[in-house]
Amino acid sequence: MIQLNYRNVSSEIIGDEHGLNIDVEFENYKEQIKNIIASLNQRKDKPEQWLQWMNLGYNEETLWYVKEYASMVQGRFENLLVLGIGGSALGGMALSEALLSPYWNYLSDEERGGYPRIFFLDNIDPDSMTGLFKMLDLSKTLVNVITKSGDTAETMSQFMVVKDILERELGDNYRYNIVATTDKKIGILRQISEQEGYKTFVIPDDVGGRFSVFSAVGLLPLALVGIDIDSIVNGIKDMDLALKNTDIRENIAAQNALIHYLLDVKKGKNISVMMPYSSRLRYVADWYVQLWAESLGKNKDLDGNDVNVGPTPVKAIGATDQHSQIQLYNEGLNNKIINFIRVKNFDSTLEIPSIFEYTGIGYLGGKTINQLLNAEADSTRVSLTDYNRPNVTISIDKIDGYHLGQLLYMFEVQTAIAGELYNINAFNQPGVEQAKNYTYALMGRAGYEGSAEMLRGKLAVL
Ligand code: PA5
Repeated sequence: MIQLNYRNVSSEIIGDEHGLNIDVEFENYKEQIKNIIASLNQRKDKPEQWLQWMNLGYNEETLWYVKEYASMVQGRFENLLVLGIGGSALGGMALSEALLSPYWNYLSDEERGGYPRIFFLDNIDPDSMTGLFKMLDLSKTLVNVITKSGDTAETMSQFMVVKDILERELGDNYRYNIVATTDKKIGILRQISEQEGYKTFVIPDDVGGRFSVFSAVGLLPLALVGIDIDSIVNGIKDMDLALKNTDIRENIAAQNALIHYLLDVKKGKNISVMMPYSSRLRYVADWYVQLWAESLGKNKDLDGNDVNVGPTPVKAIGATDQHSQIQLYNEGLNNKIINFIRVKNFDSTLEIPSIFEYTGIGYLGGKTINQLLNAEADSTRVSLTDYNRPNVTISIDKIDGYHLGQLLYMFEVQTAIAGELYNINAFNQPGVEQAKNYTYALMGRAGYEGSAEMLRGKLAVL
């Protein structure tokens, strides 16, 4: 199981001004945490609680359909192109980057075991989109369009461009190059899929975008490139079992949620930095940023009071950002908690040759890149602690489906518990919806004429 080391947030180590008396706080909050965990587990099967993500690890049916489709199309496509944005893209990006061989798209067909290259289009930059379509042979590409609402402008505009190219190249058969992942009933993508006869997968009810990675949203693209999704699901299940423990001393998601909450409200540490020491986990940090930001950044609490809460999440990568952000974290405002992710065993061991022994870099020879990276993780941890900067370390044995399933599920539960501590709704996103609606209005969608007029007025003076 993955482990959480929170020693460096304790007042014993970093002092009373910046640290927490962990024993006292765990004792003070033990009843509240117990009630939160029990309540999440009781509410998870009820409609409109938006907690169905807690059941995704047990959804055998989805697993079966995803694997069946993946084996059916195996060998038929050179590329997989995923269209989606936000929660409909970040989970798949995080897990595929972590679990595929590095530089997957540059490997030969044989080296990829016959599985396709994978591309995510999670933005609508006209230059990068045009470049991608010039480079990709879409007729040999399976396109997985993913949108829960079924009408997000970014995703649907990408889809319209891709569908048009595909149809011109393949005629009526274009539909076999498309698989849609969307709501079972609502949304324009569902309607189009039924009209055009696309293969579809369902995003279950009461699963929000940023909590959807373990539905077909994440699992389908992963299975299509040959990732063992069973091991991910096993990781989720084992973590879910561990996190059902209502004792804060035994529950790492509750511990990290409470630590983040208390450091924010009591000590002013309202920035949460996610810093994996592994390039393969770079998009896990992006995924965490979205999860934490959209879930916890809210202007009203559950009682309707204006609160404007939400710690700001920041992505960093070790060791790269030691040469970019760490100066600020060590010596700038002491308003952050740093989450290190430390990998115990990498897939490869890379030795540094014993050369240039007569120079100042001779000490590196005979060591490994693995040792160097983990020495950097340790030294940054100690250096931050010397400056009394709170930090926690999440250790994972290795980067594989089992441990990544655990890690991402742990962060989801941590986020849900933090939402309860802040007394806010962690599962809605009115701020995102407002921006989406303004875009619809500016682009002339029917039904948004009033907003369009208001926006044009504002834009004239802003
Ligand atoms: O987490 C969320 O709800 C959002 O980030 C959505 O995933 C994002 O806005 C995309 O929405 P949709 O999946 O409806 O296209």
